[in-house]
Amino acid sequence: MRHEVVLIPGDGIGLETSAAMQEVIAASGAQIEWVIAKAGAAVIDEFGTPLPEETVEAIKEYKVAIKGPVTTPVGTGFRSVNVALRKTLDLYVNLRPVMSIPGAGGRYDDVDLIVVRENTEDLYAGIEFEEGAEDTRELIGFIDKMGKGSIRQDSGISIKPISVTATRNIVEFAFDYAEKHGRKKVTSVHKANIMKHSDGLFLRESREVAKEHASIAFDDKIVDAFCMNMVMDPSQFDVIVFPNLYGDIASDLAAGLVGGLGIAPGANIGRECAVFEAVHGSAPDIAGKDLANPTAEILSAAMMLDHLGEQACADRVRAAIRAVYAKGEFLTGDIRRAEGQAKQPASCTEFTAAVVRELA
Ligand code: NAI
Repeated sequence: MRHEVVLIPGDGIGLETSAAMQEVIAASGAQIEWVIAKAGAAVIDEFGTPLPEETVEAIKEYKVAIKGPVTTPVGTGFRSVNVALRKTLDLYVNLRPVMSIPGAGGRYDDVDLIVVRENTEDLYAGIEFEEGAEDTRELIGFIDKMGKGSIRQDSGISIKPISVTATRNIVEFAFDYAEKHGRKKVTSVHKANIMKHSDGLFLRESREVAKEHASIAFDDKIVDAFCMNMVMDPSQFDVIVFPNLYGDIASDLAAGLVGGLGIAPGANIGRECAVFEAVHGSAPDIAGKDLANPTAEILSAAMMLDHLGEQACADRVRAAIRAVYAKGEFLTGDIRRAEGQAKQPASCTEFTAAVVRELA
């Protein structure tokens, strides 16, 4: 079946990894027609914003999109494209499967877990008060008057809202995912012992939702203990559900355990639309040099094929990637080398050609 999918190539290494992804998806046999849309700092001059309305409209129309990384402009007053897309399209789930790929330089061979990160609130809500500003002084005065505590006058403040609605939505998603994909356990991660009204609420609602899903085991971990447990024995985790910020940090930690950002795929999912994208950013340090590892974007595209019901093509893509790592002949420079693997780094182009050869 033919599918129309919006492609935002992004910028920096996004241009290279998106082109590689398109080549591999074409070789997988999937019938994808790309609807190219623009976003990022490079389009601000043309559209007056890094996220043009027509790009948002295209995603609303076609429902499925894949996005290369985009650079967040610093000091221009524009919000991150990623945060804006998640808010505008209510992509409330950030899904990041973390799986060992033999030969990809991971610290463990048996990692197979799913990070489910809440995507719309927490310290990421963007409710910020600048140090020294009038409204910040007022807020500090208000908090003091309420008897809630005293804040130094020279403070900047970020607000951390965690709602019952968003928590129930994300925890429900985690349990539904576990049930549909034959997973055994959901772990809720928090710091409820310190932040009783935000993380405490997250834990309480996680427990409530868990009661409605008796076939899936449930436990919880305080975020600092979670990090230590992850590094020592990631095989104890299955599906893990996080508030926004901890999920952001923990998914990079998890990616590091299996070989790094170059191989970590992801998806932002809402009730209407889904936007697939690698975990990594635009990597300005290596952009334009044909050095980027396109695995993360290719595996994000495989998740997209699953979402479109093209399971066979998705499995072929994953098998081809695993074959290239298992052979160890064409590995990009970000991958930690083991005995018997080629020491000379392959370019993005060479790696992609190797994946395409496996598919052929
Ligand atoms: P980054 O993920 O772009 O790079 C971190 C390090 O990992 C760099 O040394 C880079 O060379 C390396 N790296 C990342 N992806 C790689 C790949 N595929 N192959 C080989 N090496 C890779 O993070 P950074 O430097 O913090 O952010 C750069 C820009 O990207 C910023 O403007 C940031 O806001 C943006 N960003 C965009 C994201 C998105 O569009 N989804 C996500 C994260 C950051």
